[in-house]
Amino acid sequence: MSWALIPLTEEQRAMQESARDFALAEIAPHSDRWDRESVFDRSIVGKMGALGFLGMLIPEAYDGLGLDTCTYLVALEEIAAVDASVAVLMSVHNSLPTQMILRYGSEEQKQKYLRPMARGEYLGAFALSEPDAGSDAASLRTQAVRDGDHYVLTGVKAWVTSGAHADVILAMARTDSPNDRKGARGISTFIITPDMPGFSVGKKEDKMGLRGSETNQLVFDELRVPVANRLGQEGMGFVYAMQSLDNGRLGIAAQSIGIARAALEHSVRYAAERKQFGKPIKEFQAVQFKLADMATRVAASRALLYAAASAKDRGQPITQFGSMSKLMASETAMWVTTEAIQIFGGYGYVKEYPVEKLFRDAKVTEIYEGTSEIQRIVIARELYARS
Ligand code: CAA
Repeated sequence: MSWALIPLTEEQRAMQESARDFALAEIAPHSDRWDRESVFDRSIVGKMGALGFLGMLIPEAYDGLGLDTCTYLVALEEIAAVDASVAVLMSVHNSLPTQMILRYGSEEQKQKYLRPMARGEYLGAFALSEPDAGSDAASLRTQAVRDGDHYVLTGVKAWVTSGAHADVILAMARTDSPNDRKGARGISTFIITPDMPGFSVGKKEDKMGLRGSETNQLVFDELRVPVANRLGQEGMGFVYAMQSLDNGRLGIAAQSIGIARAALEHSVRYAAERKQFGKPIKEFQAVQFKLADMATRVAASRALLYAAASAKDRGQPITQFGSMSKLMASETAMWVTTEAIQIFGGYGYVKEYPVEKLFRDAKVTEIYEGTSEIQRIVIARELYARS
């Protein structure tokens, strides 16, 4: 699908090509099996790391590629157009845990965790949600109690992308006392590794889509975390998580656009090949109108995303534009994949054709990293904050 609206630099074009080639060679041949069998293939992490795809936003001084946000999103869309499961791993790792350590971590934490994460040797995860704390993230209950030079964490984190396979998990837990709750300001962030005593992986979710990406609960049973592994200041964990989600939502928008674009491309091809009433169905205005609306929504979503990413790279706050981009792109992905199935008809409803998977993969983009309803709340709040 045409990128004509977005003037890519030579570096961005090269990165786009490299991500596309990688996705076609290393992901496409396995994607259907990963989906069917619900398997996460860890080897993809090493392969992506070797090409720098897991350190795109990390400065070269910490072994990353030191690229701008737009270039990262261009690559992410290419991966998502082939397999959204791999794209979510890439988005979470690049946007959340690595950015949190880069922005708020100590030099020691950067040397110890960020460097190998940039090289793709350590996979990162982000653990904010809990079974009873989803949209209302500040109501999380995992408790961290200081014990000498450690914190002892007890609780269950939920919906953690790559949770069972992550080497470094950025987890939010309460450091306020149960007798003196401080709301969002009573939460801190910890860098957790699976070898810490008291850590275990809980349930693996059996999902509708993104079945090549593993989503787990993580159980902290008196998990002992050194004080040196607290990120930044005590009590600032919720703010760190929210600031990071501003960026994470750009990644999910790029993932959504990749899914929508793939559905559009399949639909354009199919409508030219499929004949009914003696001619290709692309000759019918009913199908043309669908394709036109699908292409328009993909182009508009991408234009908004790149405007938001450019604003971020210019140092502007992007809370509102991040939410707008994620809202528009994820609803576009759901709408475009629904229309794609309609164009494919019965063939769209069976696993033999690709749009059924795209439809299932699209749905979660309206849910994770903040539901569409939460994005609308954030957007509306910002309208009043500015006025
Ligand atoms: N940037 C910086 N600070 C922010 C912020 C932002 N974007 N958003 C909030 N804050 C600050 C506020 O300024 C406030 O600070 P003060 O104490 O100084 O006032 C503090 O954080 C609390 O903010 P709110 O009062 O706005 O908090 P709230 O409880 O009303 O919640 C919310 C706001 C927007 C609803 C938030 O809870 C939210 O985004 N919920 C959705 C959670 C979410 O996206 N979860 C996704 C989890 S990750 C995932 O999906 C799994 C995965 O692996 C992909």
